This record gives sequence, structure tokens and C-alpha cells, in this order.
Amino acid sequence: MSMLKDFFIGLSQNQLLNSTAKKYGLKMGAQSVVAGTNIEEAIKSIRELNNHGISCTVDNLGEFVYKKEEAADAKEKILNVIEAIHKNNVDAHISLKPTQLGLDIDYDFCLSNLREIVDKANRYDMFVNIDMEDFTHLEPTFQILDVLSMEYDNVGTVIQAYFHHALEDLKKYENFRIRIVKGAYKESPEIAYQDKSEIDKNFINLTEWHLLNGKFTSIATHDHRIINHIKEFVKKNNIPNDKFEFQMLYGFRKELQLKLASEGYNFCTYVPFGDDWYGYFMRRLAERPQNVNLVAKQVFNK
Ligand code: FDA
Repeated sequence: MSMLKDFFIGLSQNQLLNSTAKKYGLKMGAQSVVAGTNIEEAIKSIRELNNHGISCTVDNLGEFVYKKEEAADAKEKILNVIEAIHKNNVDAHISLKPTQLGLDIDYDFCLSNLREIVDKANRYDMFVNIDMEDFTHLEPTFQILDVLSMEYDNVGTVIQAYFHHALEDLKKYENFRIRIVKGAYKESPEIAYQDKSEIDKNFINLTEWHLLNGKFTSIATHDHRIINHIKEFVKKNNIPNDKFEFQMLYGFRKELQLKLASEGYNFCTYVPFGDDWYGYFMRRLAERPQNVNLVAKQVFNK
């Protein structure tokens, strides 16, 4: 299982395959988990989800950005997404990755790109979530958040439960809207739990802590056992529904998404779109080898 995971994580980091995939549109089953290659298609998907009482966080996919022009282009695209969300009056906010906006090129340049985005979103009263990437980007991402949160209150980030120090980080961001996830990258045993049961346990600890002490918790998992546990926890501790939401990725566990929304829980679907879908899709295959079925179905349904 772990070999398969490493294999797909390796593929997700292959820049040649990544740039080749961009040229050919959504392939290999990616179309069932990526909401199109352009904003019009994404808005259509968001509207459909909104009609079921589900809000969305929108990711204009992009990674492996090593040139300033590409990062500037990514920034313009995200500004356009903010405009499109506002104009179409859909219930959605933004998720983005700092490397897409130049974190691997120059910290100040990335910060200024992010500031422009958060500023525009702020004018429309729209939240911006800074997704968390691998460990090498963790500290600079927190630094960006620290700076921007002194200027704006519509920004938050992600805490990854596989890190040993996740609870300390979470405590630092008590007054933030925080998304809790298990963690999608390959990290070393010195800094991160490798065992699924330990990661799950930490995910629950972090979520319970933030539900009791934090501002707003986005519980991002497809794991029904954890979701059921949290449902019991909020009931027992009288935590009101407006203090948290469940989040899942577009295209995964659709019935469960609809069920949670129909039960009256706040629900938010992470809607990725764009032609830079390859790395995102490979990480989904790494997380859950059963997702390979998506590829198989696509290949055999031709
Ligand atoms: P996991 O893969 O651990 O599965 C647990 C159990 O849930 C399975 O054994 C199965 O029973 C059930 N299950 C899971 N998927 C299923 C499916 N498709 N169908 C049926 N049953 C299923 N990571 C990161 O590092 N940085 C980030 O910023 C984000 N952002 C993010 C946003 C959102 C909205 C989500 C949902 C996830 C992320 N992630 C992330 C990814 C996250 O770290 C993690 O890798 C994945 O969510 C996989 O872990 P799960 O908890 O979802 O289920």
C-alpha cells in the first residue's frame, strides 16, 4: 500500500508529466474530481452544489511555479475567480497554494501576490484559505498568514494532523478559521506520524480542541468514522452548527456530502478546476488506491 502511495506521490511531483498533462485537457478520470478547465464550468458546478445547500471553496489549480510571470498569471486568474464568484452571486470562497503564487521564487513577491488577492476578496467579504503544502513550505506559509492577518480578517489556513507539532501550531491559530486535514504529502518519521491510526487520533484531538477553543473549524475528511465521532462530540458539548463545517473534495462521497448538508450541517465542497490538474489528481490516487478505479473506468469505458 505504502509503495503505491509513494509511486503516485512520485508521479505527482513529475514536472514533465505535469506540463504534458496541461496540453491534453482532463484525462484519466480526472474529470470526475476536477470541475472543468475554465471558470464557467466551475461556476456551473458551484451553482449545482449551492442548490443543495452546499457552499464551495474554489481552487484554480496550479503548482510547480518557478517563474515570476507564471506566478503573476496565477494571481490574475485567482483575482478573476474572485470577480466571477462575486458577479455570479454564488456561495463560494477561495483556496490557494503559496507555491502557485511564487513562494519558491521569492517570499516578498509571493506575499505581495497574496496580499492583492486577500485585499480584493476582503472587499467582497470573501474568505481566502491558504492551503498547506509540504513541510518545506510550512514555516513561510505561517509567516505569510501572520503578516496578512494583521491587515485582514478574511484569511486562514490548514493544520495537517500527521505532524507531531500540529497541536502547538493549532494553538497559535486559535482565533482563526482553520481547516483540519490529515495531510497529503510524504513526510519523514522524524516530523510526522506514519501510522494511519496515529494520524486519525491526532486529527480527532485537533478537531475537538479547535471546536472547543477556536473560532471556526473546517473538518476536512472523507472518513465517515471520524465524521460520526465529531457529530457525537458536538452534540455532547453543545457546540452550535455555526462554529464548524464539514468539508470534502469535489467528486468524492457525493451521497455523504448531500446527506450531511440535508441533516443541517454546514457543508463546504472543495472545488478544484483548471488545466493544471495533474499533481492534484495524482495526490488523490496516492491517498486512496481505490481511486485508481476512476482511471480504470475511464480507460475501459472508451
Ligand atoms: P482517508 O484517505 O484517510 O480514508 C479514511 C477512510 O474514509 C477510508 O478507509 C474509507 O473508509 C473512507 N473513505 C475515504 N475516501 C473515501 C471515498 N472516496 N469513498 C468511500 N470511502 C472513503 N491536505 C494537505 O496536505 N493540505 C491541504 O491544504 C489539504 N486540503 C484539503 C481540503 C479538503 C476539503 C480535503 C477533504 C482534504 C484536503 N487535504 C489537504 C487532503 C488530506 O490531507 C487527506 O490527504 C485526504 O483528505 C485523505 O484523507 P481522508 O481523511 O479524507 O480519508
